[in-house]
Amino acid sequence: TTVKSSLIDPDGGELVELVVPESETKLKKAESMPKVKMTKIDLEWVHVISEGWASPLKGFMREDEYLQSLHFNSLRLKDGSLVNMSLPIVLAIDDHTKEHVGVSKNVALVSPQGDIIGSLRSVEIYKHNKEERIARTWGTTSPGLPYVEEHIAPSGNWLIGGDLEVFQPIKYNDGLDHYRLSPKQLRREFDNRKADAVFAFQLRNPVHNGHALLMNDTRKRLLEMGYKNPILLLHPLGGFTKADDVPLDVRMEQHSKVLEDGVLDPETTIVSIFPSPMHYAGPTEVQWHAKARINAGANFYIVGRDPAGMGHPTEKRDLYDPDHGKKVLSMAPGLEKLNILPFRVAAYDTVEKKMAFFDPSRAKEFLFISGTKMRTYARTGESPPDGFMCQSGWNVLVKYYESLQES
Ligand code: ADX
Repeated sequence: TTVKSSLIDPDGGELVELVVPESETKLKKAESMPKVKMTKIDLEWVHVISEGWASPLKGFMREDEYLQSLHFNSLRLKDGSLVNMSLPIVLAIDDHTKEHVGVSKNVALVSPQGDIIGSLRSVEIYKHNKEERIARTWGTTSPGLPYVEEHIAPSGNWLIGGDLEVFQPIKYNDGLDHYRLSPKQLRREFDNRKADAVFAFQLRNPVHNGHALLMNDTRKRLLEMGYKNPILLLHPLGGFTKADDVPLDVRMEQHSKVLEDGVLDPETTIVSIFPSPMHYAGPTEVQWHAKARINAGANFYIVGRDPAGMGHPTEKRDLYDPDHGKKVLSMAPGLEKLNILPFRVAAYDTVEKKMAFFDPSRAKEFLFISGTKMRTYARTGESPPDGFMCQSGWNVLVKYYESLQES
């Protein structure tokens, strides 16, 4: 007997799933279509779209979706309702490929390895004004934006949108695929565990005790609100990240230690990988991070200091106001049904010798341990102060930074 799920509805009402069953015949047909070669990041977006993280989006954006996303951070559905969609999910092609596609209705999508992995149907090709896209997404066209330099700058001057079909689930064969649960699989897991609340934590960094403070505090608050079985979705981002971020495999090992050590409760936590690439677009991107978790069944979303932010690439300051992410998220169009849990910044309390919420009245007693500072500790063999991170988790990072110095 199937019990009706009590989880939050996906955006648009129904979870999009684009991995088609009759893949053999579909693949045959696709072989005769014009081919569009994709990059690694394009393939990450195929993964994201095909599993319904961007529901109700059914493919790479056509121009009307692109314009709504770029100008309104949302999409208007046929019934008049709004869903959040703050990042354009688009596929760029160059002049040569555009000519090759010509007037064809459908195209085959080719992975960086040369395999046909799916198709785009009823395609539409339109101009890729990179400057406008970058300025509107990041609020700056400064040189040094990681996603821009890696992915947009070298891409073509056209965008191709259409309905996506994928012939095989996307796999990475990196030993971590078992962590890559789709929104459908996560929903099943939450139902199996009889979760009455699901709270998501997006991250791209190792878990320190400040992060853990946010998650454990949330659990406490949910229990106080009367929920009996809140489940934490610890959801590290698995797609493209900038060169000086800690790589996914190292982070996954670090996260395991944090759970083994009991900093987070393994009984009430699900660790899974979010397949999206990272934009580092701050308040614009955090909306995407939150929206995607609705589709995976989360009805609570934790947000702290400077989500999806980074240092300004050319100036000595944060690119975004560190408080804007949580403010924007609490007001974002299409995210009304998601409970946003905004948190103050956590820092190391040198008196209490633990991570705690920053108290401005005794500012001098707090130590801010940035990513850069953590790297310096690890590189110089110095330990961070006691209570910053569990020892076994810290050891994983030390090993990683030592391996960097050797190469
Ligand atoms: S992010 O790009 O995924 O947002 P990160 O992994 O650093 O980056 O952060 C994960 C989450 O923890 C975000 O919600 C972020 O706002 C929050 N966060 C990170 N560090 C702190 C901190 N010191 N205090 C409060 N919140 C924090």
